Amino acid sequence: MTEQRGNWTSSAGFILAATGSAIGLGNLWKFPFITWENNGGAFVLVYLVCIAAVGLPIMMAELLIGRKTQKSAVGALKEAVGPAWGLVGMWGVLCGFILLSYYTVIAGWSLFFFAKTAGWMVGGFPAGASLGEIFTEQSANGTLQLGLSLGFSIATVSVVYFGVQKGIEKIARLFLPILFLILALLFTVSFAMEGSGEALAFIFRPSFGELDGGSVLEALGHAFFTLSLGMGAMITYGSYIARNQSVVKASGIIVLLDTVIALVATVIMFTVIFTAGMQDQVSETGTVGMLFISLPQLFFAEGVVPGGRFLAPLFYVLVALAALTSTMSLLEVVASYVIDEHGIARGKATLMCGGAVFVFTILAALSFGGADFATSMSVPGPIGDLFFAGKTSWFGMADHFVSNWMLPTGGLAITIAAGWFMAREASEGELVDDTTPGWFSYDVWAFFIRFVAPAAVAAIIIAVLFFGVDFS
Ligand code: TRP
Repeated sequence: MTEQRGNWTSSAGFILAATGSAIGLGNLWKFPFITWENNGGAFVLVYLVCIAAVGLPIMMAELLIGRKTQKSAVGALKEAVGPAWGLVGMWGVLCGFILLSYYTVIAGWSLFFFAKTAGWMVGGFPAGASLGEIFTEQSANGTLQLGLSLGFSIATVSVVYFGVQKGIEKIARLFLPILFLILALLFTVSFAMEGSGEALAFIFRPSFGELDGGSVLEALGHAFFTLSLGMGAMITYGSYIARNQSVVKASGIIVLLDTVIALVATVIMFTVIFTAGMQDQVSETGTVGMLFISLPQLFFAEGVVPGGRFLAPLFYVLVALAALTSTMSLLEVVASYVIDEHGIARGKATLMCGGAVFVFTILAALSFGGADFATSMSVPGPIGDLFFAGKTSWFGMADHFVSNWMLPTGGLAITIAAGWFMAREASEGELVDDTTPGWFSYDVWAFFIRFVAPAAVAAIIIAVLFFGVDFS
């Protein structure tokens, strides 16, 4: 390798980048909706338990494997655990590749709704406009979808091209504070709205009668997704951490921030929905509905959101920024593999990987009616049922396969690697030193990583296999 390996310039820079990876469409698009579907309260509580008992220990495991070896996913697992474990790393790289291919399309929608709402901010909301129709039309417009996702892919490639310090860290340092500010502003405004009490009660008042096994597993699966775990993304980011920083402390902060942001975003969205009395429409329009059908019009509805017409475009800026700090992390997983394992220079590797991913983004972009072959693509027979739950379209299949198969199996392998195959001195040496906060106990971590986390993840896989639970 001719290039010097990058490093984060500081602890804050690393924490912002990793938090940016974690905070994404999972927080703004998936979490609010699954909370809605599972009736809030008890589900949120279970989710918090999953984050603390499974997410936090695995976050520490991934970061420590990265920092110990100073290598990206494949090389790190090979070196820390053994050559065969490189396959687990490859599985992660493939997962990053597929996830990025469709994540970019939803990210592109945020650009569309930014433009739309910015237009309405200036020109007024068109009387009688149906957001449902606007949404369906834009997603079925193949040319538009290709343009939006190409735009977003170029943005992602441009960041990763400049490397860890000058690209990823710089953008995270710039965008995350903006994201926090926008969210804080929206949060403050939401407290002045009528529906805020109802929203808070829905989210935080548990009633366990409504919770079933499927919800518990959905919470667990989402804990992986939202923290960017199970595919080596945090191994890769961990490989750029300097020796004098505490992996334990960083893990705690990243997990806490991701969780707080998911809850804050949910409070904001539910407040808007309850204030407008739009509960029924939200339930009908499904996952994409809340973020891209209900919310845009509510910002412009009379007497719902104070200053809504100005906040609407700002809200979609928030979505776009959150998505970008995640897509750049996904591309980094793929590119750093090519850089580290094949000795290709970063610039070239980034362009190659970005281009290869985009080929599949085309399929994802055309999955909503843009082109027949992408929209109706499916895998027939028992294999198709098992791995793709009979989903049609590239988007549907890819999302299902990543959430239900790739992240849980990758996550299980990584916990087993860290808990059972790495020498105690190695993991203890990374986690415990004079920078480690007082609340941390290595033995407690080891118990969670060896027993609690693998049992929980195995439960997801068994649920998917035998009970047909779908996390996507
Ligand atoms: N955490 C991201 C979100 O909530 C999604 C994601 C999953 C991710 N795995 C990742 C992002 C790996 C970057 C890298 O939206």
